[in-house]
Amino acid sequence: MSDTPLKHLAIIMDGNGRWAKERGLKRTKGHEKGAETIRDITTYCAEHTSIETATFYAFSTENWKRPKLEVEFLMKLLEKYLKNELSTYQKHSIRFQAIGNIDAFSKSLQKRIKETEELTKNNSNLKQILALNYGGRAEIISTVNKLISKGKTVITEEDISTSLQTPYSDIDLLIRTSGEERISNFLLWQLSYSEFYFSPTLWPDFSNIELDKIIKNFEKRTRRYGGLK
Ligand code: IPE
Ligand code: IPE
Ligand code: MG
Repeated sequence: MSDTPLKHLAIIMDGNGRWAKERGLKRTKGHEKGAETIRDITTYCAEHTSIETATFYAFSTENWKRPKLEVEFLMKLLEKYLKNELSTYQKHSIRFQAIGNIDAFSKSLQKRIKETEELTKNNSNLKQILALNYGGRAEIISTVNKLISKGKTVITEEDISTSLQTPYSDIDLLIRTSGEERISNFLLWQLSYSEFYFSPTLWPDFSNIELDKIIKNFEKRTRRYGGLK
């Protein structure tokens, strides 16, 4: 067993477009299939004994650069996902939270996000965090600005950790699918001592069986945090 339990898992869900392209389908079909994968993986995490939080990268601050139609599709898909998933959240006692700047979204999507957070706030098996219009740099900058506006002139590590939009534990394991090996502006602050795992699988094909294998691999690792073990 690993010296530290897997409490916080983060996933960069990548490869939806390539999955669709390989099948001669539109990119949007890949996003639809990818939404089903989030449900399966979230349910797995809720049933896993040590995992307390699962954070998924769903839309980055850079994803606005995509064609308007794809962005609009993703917004609609997200709204539909939250509506459909409410029963899954309640059945498996999953608390939903969003991180990122959701002010940029439509009023109805913002309402849906806030309502889902409210309706699931007492659920305790798992916290599912969706990163929506999220950027690691934007998060650090807004946290520092928040501290400055409170009158802080000297900022400590603890100040930042506890003042993030959703203060939460560091990431134990980060998985990125699709074979890309980069962070793409995901949780820059929270990833400083995470274990990384890059899977070649495209996100719509990612499964509980693969996640189980990755967790077994994580459990064999020795985390030294700069010390000696
Ligand atoms: C990840 O899949 C989903 C989002 C970024 C919204 P992509 O859409 O990036 O798929 P690829 O990387 O083009 O295959
Ligand atoms: C990262 O994937 C963002 C999400 C998964 C939401 P991208 O596909 O946008 O990242 P790059 O462009 O390959 O770095
Ligand atoms: Mg991609």
